[in-house]
Amino acid sequence: MTDASSAPAVPVTIHRGDYRPPEWQIPDIALDFALGIKETRVTAALSAVRAADAPAPLLLRGDGLTPAEVRVDGAVWNDWRMDGSDLVVDLGDRTAATVEVDTLIHPATNTQLMGLYASNGMLCTQCEAEGFRRITFHPDRPDVLSRYRVRLAGDRARFPILLSNGNCIASGEGEDGTHWALWEDPWPKPSYLFALVAGDLVVNRDSFTTMSGRKVDLGIWVRDGDLDRTHHAMAALKHSMKWDEEVYGREYDLDRFNIVAVSDFNMGAMENKGLNIFNTRYILADPDTATDMDYDGVEGVVAHEYFHNWSGNRVTCRDWFQLSLKEGFTVYRDQSFSAAMGSPAVKRIEDVRVLRAAQFPEDAGPLAHPIRPDSYQEISNFYTATVYNKGAEVIRMMATLLGPERFRRGTDLYFDRHDGEAATCEDFIRAMEEGGGIDLTQFRRWYEQAGTPKLHLTLAQEGGEWFLDIVQTVPPTPGQPAKAPMMMPLRLAAFAMDGGGAALPDTLVTLTGAAQRVPLGAFAARPALSVNRGFSAPVIVDYERAPGELAWLAAHDDDPFARYEALQQLMLDTLVAAVSGEAGNRDAVIGAVARTLAGAADDPAFVAEAVLLPSEAFIGDQMVTVDPDAIRSARMALQGAIGDALEGQWRAILGNPAPAATDLSPAAKGRRRLRGVALAYLAATGKEDVAALAFGIFSSADGMTERQAALATLAHGDSDERAHALDIFYQRYRDDPLVLDKWFQVQAWSLRSDTVAAVAALAQHPDFTLANPNRVRSLYGAFAANQAAFHQADGAGYRLLADLVIALDPKNPQTAARMIPPLGRWKRFDVARQALMKTELERILAQPGLSRDTTEQASKSLM
Ligand code: ARG
Ligand code: ZN
Repeated sequence: MTDASSAPAVPVTIHRGDYRPPEWQIPDIALDFALGIKETRVTAALSAVRAADAPAPLLLRGDGLTPAEVRVDGAVWNDWRMDGSDLVVDLGDRTAATVEVDTLIHPATNTQLMGLYASNGMLCTQCEAEGFRRITFHPDRPDVLSRYRVRLAGDRARFPILLSNGNCIASGEGEDGTHWALWEDPWPKPSYLFALVAGDLVVNRDSFTTMSGRKVDLGIWVRDGDLDRTHHAMAALKHSMKWDEEVYGREYDLDRFNIVAVSDFNMGAMENKGLNIFNTRYILADPDTATDMDYDGVEGVVAHEYFHNWSGNRVTCRDWFQLSLKEGFTVYRDQSFSAAMGSPAVKRIEDVRVLRAAQFPEDAGPLAHPIRPDSYQEISNFYTATVYNKGAEVIRMMATLLGPERFRRGTDLYFDRHDGEAATCEDFIRAMEEGGGIDLTQFRRWYEQAGTPKLHLTLAQEGGEWFLDIVQTVPPTPGQPAKAPMMMPLRLAAFAMDGGGAALPDTLVTLTGAAQRVPLGAFAARPALSVNRGFSAPVIVDYERAPGELAWLAAHDDDPFARYEALQQLMLDTLVAAVSGEAGNRDAVIGAVARTLAGAADDPAFVAEAVLLPSEAFIGDQMVTVDPDAIRSARMALQGAIGDALEGQWRAILGNPAPAATDLSPAAKGRRRLRGVALAYLAATGKEDVAALAFGIFSSADGMTERQAALATLAHGDSDERAHALDIFYQRYRDDPLVLDKWFQVQAWSLRSDTVAAVAALAQHPDFTLANPNRVRSLYGAFAANQAAFHQADGAGYRLLADLVIALDPKNPQTAARMIPPLGRWKRFDVARQALMKTELERILAQPGLSRDTTEQASKSLM
């Protein structure tokens, strides 16, 4: 059963400016669950207290619910009506009442994975943003905070473990083989942080002693057989708890902290108070099944959800327009944590790569929105790279402008002042202003204006003195035709390339104007400019530099991020030239890659990042009209040329033995990463022995990082080894869903020309299913990111993705809607592709009963 048909035919747009405080508060809630996979009976007792001065009915949101009975203060109550799917209870002129509602819900048929649903025989919940209303009638808005008391009862054999938020205060036996548990969460929380889990689970238990000496019991709950794969997550949790105490002074506030891993989950994980629920993908890891990147993903997401306990739970959001208040800040916190656990430079490179791959295109397309949106139809569509990743960049800029000590004063003030409250982005900015002693009036535009700012740079010289002229523009975005200049921190330095003469050391400039001049000092010749060091502002820098200057910076800049950027820019200039049939400067690129490789022994992780060619999508972003086929051939040609020219170096890297897969030190991870890059460069040469070499690595690998890298390399080609390796991998891991996802993924990523047909065939594979979001993403998400395949000229790729959206939408609208943005990038392509892409968006929109999620994304994508 799905509720897609209950979505309104004409989508309702919610506006930020329409916010009104709640008319009723619910200080206490008692929930009683009689749990069953097919049918669960819910009794909710809401202690309602009127907040409005005048009488007002109590509006309780519902989604797909029918009230079996309504009681007020213990007596059956008939003064209620349904308004669409919501329940409106008329309480006359009462100022307080206990309102009880009984409902019956059906977890097994809840394919949306919002509310209470069944996954792998267990029951779990996902309530953010508006899933609680699928469990029981409730105001279901984040500015209504309650203390929860939750009684769970169910069959002991089926649900031996019963978990909810907070502490278990009582438990016992019931009749007919049932048992029950009573949970109480002492901290008032919004309904989106409610959670329950019931199932047959095993636990990895540990403990953490907080800075004030309290012992916290930690538990990571998984399916039988997965316990050995929880140790990395547990270590990450303990490191996160310590780090938040040391860096932000934030201590955990309950006696226990539980994490449950479930295999069917729409997103990465969820920060429910004291009971985080995770996609298994971000908990389970061991060297045989998880790559180094998977390990980093586990560490980062465990930290992210833990950090939400303060940035999200203790201080929550007043309304969903403020989502970036908790998400942007928490992403910034998890990025800083991961940087501290590993290499800050490499982490920064990875984060900027994600920003450029996911957020810049969003900001440049029809779905562009400010980090604090002004309106939405379906809030699930706003869990975006803009709200999360650009939101994190905005927090980072404030941290940069203030410096560590004043930023800490600002966050202390924010947490102290708003503890227990539902706050706004404006509250955060004000705490930064007061705690940090800074005027952020102009900076607030980052919350208001969408679009990636562009900085146009030119150097000027006046009698030996050099100046940098900066012109800032912010492009128009939907609904925002004209923009004002943004305030931002720009870190820069200037070097004399001949070694002699002056240099401008690392300098922080605060940009405010549309045009601004920065003095660089005296240089005998044009200095090499190192600009936006550390990516201090999330902008596009437009500055023409000669290959020699870029190569010099790639070798000598003292900021590692800037060295990376210089080499990337050198590659990008050459690739863009090649796409339009010009020569570019291959030799400069090869020389710079060779020099960078010379440092591989000291910092293999950095070198591996630095020598990677820019992605096809990022090359496309530099062009007026994206030409996917020309981009692919230019990139493959350059990769082949670098592979040929430096063949000895690549072979030497692979000739050294691989570090043991159990060695997860940054150095070992870096060496494995570099080996993967070396193998890809060698494969691009087309040399005959490479398939055998890759197959050898694949067969002898003692861990997933090397195994997957070799498999991915083979998957691009046409060798016998390719088919053989894919078969071995499938047979070995067919019963391990997370690893089987990789098998789908490497085939969808393939650079082969028959990838569209291969993906269509894989969609019919017995192991493919629309019921599992990870599986859908591993095939179609990877495919949509495969630029030349997805944009195949005949439109077959577009059709395939639209077919998926149409098939998935009735089951899981949230995950279906997330597949639409690649089709919405049509303006960036030639007219033939534009027409084909729009045809598919229109075909999606013509489906009867389309969800609100997909309707919003597809209709906005056509504008
Ligand atoms: N708050 C979660 C996180 O970022 C994301 C949950 C969003 N879920 C959803 N169904 N929209 O950690
Ligand atoms: Zn989050």
